Amino acid sequence: ALPKWTREEFDSFNELKESNMAGRERKQTDTDKGIVIPDDWPGYPLALFTSPEHYCDDLDCVYIPHGVIMDRTERLARNIMDDLGDHDIVVLCVLKGGYQFCADLVDCIKVLCRHSNKTLPMRVDFIRLKSYLNDHSTQDLHIEGAENLSVLSGKAIVDTGKTMKTLLDHVQAFGPKMIKVAGLLVKRVPSGTGYLPDYVGFEIPNRFVVGYALDYNEYFRDLNHICVISERGKQKYKI
Ligand code: HPA
Ligand code: MG
Repeated sequence: ALPKWTREEFDSFNELKESNMAGRERKQTDTDKGIVIPDDWPGYPLALFTSPEHYCDDLDCVYIPHGVIMDRTERLARNIMDDLGDHDIVVLCVLKGGYQFCADLVDCIKVLCRHSNKTLPMRVDFIRLKSYLNDHSTQDLHIEGAENLSVLSGKAIVDTGKTMKTLLDHVQAFGPKMIKVAGLLVKRVPSGTGYLPDYVGFEIPNRFVVGYALDYNEYFRDLNHICVISERGKQKYKI
């Protein structure tokens, strides 16, 4: 089920993951590494779903349909509830790409709360990772009063993991009780640090994907499915 991955590569990936988790609260049961999409996954033909007319020539395939994203997000919400159900949390949405994932994740958590006896008081905050990373300023990071709270950070894509590590260092400075990270997509990149979020939606090949708030030069955020962009799309929206 894991094409082009040797057992050794896979194991070393897992070891890296464990060492990254050292020093952070982690349950033995947190072994969900996400839905693994293999390197040879061709996606679905566009014609089998609907997508905006203005993108009809700009996409190669539907890589992850919106419904599957939602179903997976629902399960992540349940895992999060199981782990954090007794804490007040600050949800830190990593903009821009993470806005749809965060909104849907928060919605799923709210539905779960309504349908169970659990409660999970949430505050939602936003951070624009790129801008604060470039100038090494923490100006965009306002999570005052996060002491004694738990932080759940939601990001759309984790590839090398470097950005995520920097974010975690900054969040740590606010002294939260616990930090958990939810990532919708984790890319199998050769240069990766091995960092894995606590909650992973999908593990995908090293391909550029758009939709569900992920962009190519700010386009395609208005696409519900996660898709692979076509050559024509790349040319059309090139800067
Ligand atoms: N798509 C959009 N934005 C991204 C990606 C991607 O595949 N990887 C990192 N940022
Ligand atoms: Mg982008």
